[in-house]
Amino acid sequence: MTLDVVLTPVGLAPAEIHGRAVFVIDILRAGTTICAALANGARAVVPVASTEEALRLTQTLGPEETVLAGERDCLRIPGFALGNSPREMTPEAVGGRTVVLTTTNGTGALLAVAGAATVHVAAAVNFSLMAERIREAWARGQPILVVCAGRAQRFALDDGYTAGRLVEAALAGRRGRKGLNDAALATLDLVRRYGRRWDRPLARSQGGRDLAALGLEADIVSAATQDAWPVLARYAERRVTAAPVRPPA
Ligand code: MLT
Repeated sequence: MTLDVVLTPVGLAPAEIHGRAVFVIDILRAGTTICAALANGARAVVPVASTEEALRLTQTLGPEETVLAGERDCLRIPGFALGNSPREMTPEAVGGRTVVLTTTNGTGALLAVAGAATVHVAAAVNFSLMAERIREAWARGQPILVVCAGRAQRFALDDGYTAGRLVEAALAGRRGRKGLNDAALATLDLVRRYGRRWDRPLARSQGGRDLAALGLEADIVSAATQDAWPVLARYAERRVTAAPVRPPA
C-alpha cells in the first residue's frame, strides 16, 4: 500500500500519478471555491492555466453558458465576472452554468494530475466525503497520491495541514505508518500540532495572512467550515463536476 503526499505539484512525473487515486488540495481558496460553485448549482468548473485560455474557452462554450472566474494575487482578474472567493459562488452567479476558473496555484495543480485513476478536489468544506473516499481507497490497497497546490511552487501550511487530515482519515486510527512517504508523515505531525481546528493553520498560513491583509478574512472562515459544501468534486475529462453521493449504508 502506498500513500504519498507531495507538498507542491512541481516536478510530478506521469509515473507517480498513473493509476492512482489522487486528491488535490488548495484549501485557500481554489478547492473551496470549486466546492462552493458545484454545491450552488454550477454545472461544472473547468480549470485552465491562463487568462487567455479562459477567454478562449468561454467563447467556445458560449458566453451565456459560462461564467469567467479567477484571481491573480488574490484579486479578481480585470474583465472577469467573478474572482476566486467561495462567497461569490452564489446560485444566482453560477447556477446552471459552467465556471471557467484560472487561479495562481490551484488550477495548475489540477492540470498537473492527468493520467490518474481518479481525481478529487478535497477541502474542509467537503471533508467528510473526502475522508470516506480516501479511507476506502487505502482499505482496498489502491495507491494514493495527495497533491498540495502549495504557494508559488513552495510548501503552504494550509494545504499541508489539510493533507495531514486526509492521511489521518485514511489510516482510520491504525498506528502503523507503513506505505507513507516522509511528506505524509510530516503532514500528520501538523495535525498533531493544530488539532481539529481548521481555522488555526489556515489563519496562520501565508495565504491566510495575505487574504486577511486584503480584508478577505471571511473567506478563511468559509474555507474552515467543515462540510459546509459537501460535494464529491471529481475532476475528469478536463472538468470538475459533482458526482452523485451514495446514501449511507
Ligand atoms: C490559488 O489557486 O493560488 C489560490 O486559490 C489563490 C487565492 O486564494 O485566490
